Amino acid sequence: MSNAIEQNRLDAQAAAIVEMVGGVPCLAPVQSMTSVSKAVDIGCGTGVATIQIAGMFPSAKVYGLDISPVPEAVQKMAPANAAWAVGNVLDVDYNKPGDDVMNREIFTPGGLGYIFGRMLFLGINDWSRYFSTAYHSLRSGGIIEHQDLDWKFYRVGTSECLSDKWEWHRAVVSGAEQSGLSTHAGSDAAPIMKDAGLEIISVRTFEFSFVPSSKTPNSLAMGRYVQAKLVPHYPELLRKMLGAQGIAGGELARLTKESLRDIASEEGVHQKYTVTIARKP
Ligand SMILES: C[S@@+](CC[C@H](N)C(=O)[O-])C[C@H]1O[C@@H](n2cnc3c(N)ncnc32)[C@H](O)[C@@H]1O
Repeated sequence: MSNAIEQNRLDAQAAAIVEMVGGVPCLAPVQSMTSVSKAVDIGCGTGVATIQIAGMFPSAKVYGLDISPVPEAVQKMAPANAAWAVGNVLDVDYNKPGDDVMNREIFTPGGLGYIFGRMLFLGINDWSRYFSTAYHSLRSGGIIEHQDLDWKFYRVGTSECLSDKWEWHRAVVSGAEQSGLSTHAGSDAAPIMKDAGLEIISVRTFEFSFVPSSKTPNSLAMGRYVQAKLVPHYPELLRKMLGAQGIAGGELARLTKESLRDIASEEGVHQKYTVTIARKP
């Protein structure tokens, strides 16, 4: 997490997500989770949610884990019960435990009371492994909260898909699939969690708006964030995703132009954001 602009974008995105899901970062039944002594925020980014979770569970040790280090300024101002670790969650291996902080401290079998993971769809290419690690590391009764996005675009207030007709979108989806990423990291989570042995408590879906609409007031901040901070980032995202498939030059420029037109094509155009909460039996 080296770049200040990216940190600022992630913090703005986190604030918009909180507003979208109803004003709190976590939808898990936190009030009743009184015996949590260890928790982790996987792929914590700038650590914004880690600090909020540390505040919710003041007597627990709360780890913020990410492949890249959390900014030092955040680490300095964090509460004393927050701890920071660098590592890839997919490297946790219960058959061959390594001697790193993930194996020794964070993901010890049956040790975690709460796992939080938000917007990991570009980083996890093996969700079965991810949820199986979650299952092994949770104690019985422990909770996992998964918040993630699907890649399709829909009309406000409906499940009417707009993006199936978009050429650039088909190319992005096929690029993601080629790299092993799921394009349904939100809506596909519940069945994969169940297969891993977890018991689903709730599944809720929200509209991650790209253009603000008064029809979805909780997503207004999201629409504003996307317009101000995500849209400017889109050409670079497309360059990476389409570049990996050999699309460059004039064709990349054309598809990028179409994408910027389509993602702003109507009020309330959105992707579906799903919050899934599950328990280890
Ligand atoms: C889009 S950011 C979201 C950050 C944070 N969860 C939030 O909502 O503010 C995704 C973060 O997940 C991290 N990440 C992706 N894959 C990971 C993995 N396999 N293990 C650990 N961290 C990962 C990335 O480095 C990045 O910081």
